[in-house]
Amino acid sequence: MAQGGYVVTQPGGAERLEWVASAVGQPGPGQIRLRHDAIGVNYIDIYHRMGLYPLPLPTGIGVEGAGFVEAVGSDVTHLSIGDRVVYAGGQPGAYANVRLIQADRAVRLPEEITSQTAAALFFKGLTAQYLIKSAYQVKAGEWVLLHAAAGGVGIVALQWLKHIGANVIGIVSTEEKAELARAYGASHVIIDKEGNFSGKVREIVPQGVDVVYDSVGKATFTASLDSLRIRGMMVSFGMSSGKIPPIDLSILGAKGSLYFTRCTIAHYMASRTQLEAGAADLFSMIAGGIIKSGPVTNYALKDAPQAHRDLESRRTSGSLLLIP
Ligand SMILES: NC(=O)c1ccc[n+]([C@@H]2O[C@H](COP(=O)([O-])OP(=O)(O)OC[C@H]3O[C@@H](n4cnc5c(N)ncnc54)[C@H](OP(=O)(O)O)[C@@H]3O)[C@@H](O)[C@H]2O)c1
Repeated sequence: MAQGGYVVTQPGGAERLEWVASAVGQPGPGQIRLRHDAIGVNYIDIYHRMGLYPLPLPTGIGVEGAGFVEAVGSDVTHLSIGDRVVYAGGQPGAYANVRLIQADRAVRLPEEITSQTAAALFFKGLTAQYLIKSAYQVKAGEWVLLHAAAGGVGIVALQWLKHIGANVIGIVSTEEKAELARAYGASHVIIDKEGNFSGKVREIVPQGVDVVYDSVGKATFTASLDSLRIRGMMVSFGMSSGKIPPIDLSILGAKGSLYFTRCTIAHYMASRTQLEAGAADLFSMIAGGIIKSGPVTNYALKDAPQAHRDLESRRTSGSLLLIP
């Protein structure tokens, strides 16, 4: 494939991903030039493509990847040519064989972690890490409701929660995904596609769960609140079914003096110190065999539109990678 990358010039469906051949120049101050071994597909890429998370257009697409440093800009001191790195966030533009990226979003990879494992687990793992340890601090014995439990973030979160000693109810849409969720640590699984799960949650935990991690948004919002114990915490971190409509905040009082946060990784891994601490925590969990890569589906980079179609039609489990 010639050097280049996918760009979006008009928001819309997967057909809006347009391959543009282009040469990548020398990195500027604070940048590195990276040759990707593997690029992670994140649901956020779909929000960017659709305009649900609006970006100035035209824009590159993709927020995570791993590969080799080909060139370093001035004042980059923590990375050298030939280093193997992984990154999360920064300017979208990962759907490319070679790209420039801010060096402060990249972390050197331990030798034992392959680029493919890193691209599959880094962004999703950092997300699980801050959700479970910072957005709400899950403790042993607590009850957790986790949506999309067999998805990319879901499979990492399940393993981390199991390690902490939490009881996890996973929600998935099919029996096949239910088996996966059980295999990676869910103590209970509910199969649901309609947002009718709160009654089933209360059959398992009559008082309600301590925390809900909801990446689905519009379709699950009300039932997620209805699944919480008094003074429980709703952590909303995505909207794969669409945006949550405006709400009257008094609903939180009426349903049990609930807490609500809508959080994003950009605010939890904002500084270099936070990114390095999150990465060190995740790498030690991978090295210790506590977090393993779940199912990974590889697509050729040119098949990024198909990867998007598969992800948004709920056909996938685990992580999706684009291979240049
Ligand atoms: N806030 C943050 O910091 C942050 C960071 C990273 C990712 N995220 C969010 O985390 C979520 C998971 O990301 P991911 O990349 O790992 O994706 P993913 O979970 O692998 O894929 C999305 C899953 O959501 C479920 N889903 C439920 N309703 C859906 C609908 N109407 N349309 C599509 N999918 C639906 C599906 O699982 P079932 O078929 O089992 O229902 C689907 O497989 C996304 O919402 C993403 O935006 C947030």
